[in-house]
Amino acid sequence: MIKNDRKKISVFVEEGNASQTLTCFSNEYRSLMHLIADQLMPDDFGECQGMGRCATCKIEVLESAYPLNNFDRNENSNLESDTGSLKIIRLSCQIYADELADGLKIKLVR
Ligand code: FES
Repeated sequence: MIKNDRKKISVFVEEGNASQTLTCFSNEYRSLMHLIADQLMPDDFGECQGMGRCATCKIEVLESAYPLNNFDRNENSNLESDTGSLKIIRLSCQIYADELADGLKIKLVR
């Protein structure tokens, strides 16, 4: 039997009036975008496959146990329209699906 030491993580996702808790192992997916795209399959989501260029993977962070302020180089320029907002808007492709994402509550921004 193969022992799996990776921690299981859960991410609560709201989309419109629906919500769902996604689960996976830490680092099973390269980013939250890949987790969401694989398990929820939203239309027109993650168009650039995580290059940080299309902004189709935008999320609003509703609750996080850890600060999510380590913006990627491309991320700020793609989110300029959201500056000035009190909301924490991120590109989900720039957030690792690791232990720091466990318990994260997010909303898809469409
Ligand atoms: S998948 Fe294109 S910016 Fe995130």
